[in-house]
Amino acid sequence: MITLTPDRIHEEVKARYGRIAEEFQVEASGSCCADAVDNSCCGEDNDQAVELFANLYTADTEWLPDEVTGMALGCGDPITLANLDEGLTVLDLGSGGGIDCFMAARQVGPNGRVIGVDMTPSMIEKANRNKEKVGLDNVEFRLGQIEDMPVESDSVDVILSNCVINLAPDKAAVFRDSFRVLKPGGRLAVSDIVTQGHFSPEDKADMASWTGCIAGADDVGDYVAAIRNAGFTEISVRDKKAPDVELADSLSLNDEVRVFSARVTAVKPKGAL
Ligand SMILES: C[S@@+](CC[C@H](N)C(=O)[O-])C[C@H]1O[C@@H](n2cnc3c(N)ncnc32)[C@H](O)[C@@H]1O
Repeated sequence: MITLTPDRIHEEVKARYGRIAEEFQVEASGSCCADAVDNSCCGEDNDQAVELFANLYTADTEWLPDEVTGMALGCGDPITLANLDEGLTVLDLGSGGGIDCFMAARQVGPNGRVIGVDMTPSMIEKANRNKEKVGLDNVEFRLGQIEDMPVESDSVDVILSNCVINLAPDKAAVFRDSFRVLKPGGRLAVSDIVTQGHFSPEDKADMASWTGCIAGADDVGDYVAAIRNAGFTEISVRDKKAPDVELADSLSLNDEVRVFSARVTAVKPKGAL
């Protein structure tokens, strides 16, 4: 069995999303899981993947150019989850082609600002080209890893992320660094793939599945523990398909692994140092 080191995971993830950014063509796109387009988190084209990775934005995406909507590689709608106000500072972890950053930038307006962080250089280039096309100047894209972000401490009101944290080898580091950059009272609004139940070490070692946003997904109990250990409170995890049921305190089912797209929220307490 191959051992996946954190460096190897970062390199393979970067290679996959770098290829997607470089090879993307508007006319070939249409959805995250479009036929014959391997530009998605999903990779394989089947009904379950289509359902898992469907963005299903309630937020208005009509005003965005095809270059942006065609590069949507998420698995949910963190924009609606975040319920942003004018004037906020927003950070998007793993911003890709920039779709959530542009929607956030429009909502926070000229008195707010949005920072997208992504470790893949050609994604940052793509996002900057998209920014020119969209014509918003309160967005900026920074190259960096979400485990150790080029972002000032205590400077951000809301962190968004869409189908990215599952790709990170060290999720505890992602949540620790998120806690660091948030202002006291700041919050997380994240869409991500998580599981109920644990993948076997063999399944975890499948690199193609990891870069396709499956094998890197953690059990909801471990995911919540990483958020809580970072210092967050008011943690909520809900299945996008069953949003009325709170899963943050649920136990794992050990005999079976259920993979789902989750809506995750949490708060950095006001008194936090
Ligand atoms: C599945 S795509 C999602 C892109 C975007 N959030 C969206 O919804 O379209 C994952 C993105 O996260 C970036 N990424 C993955 N792991 C990362 C890490 N550890 N640090 C920074 N960026 C990362 C990849 O480069 C890629 O652009």
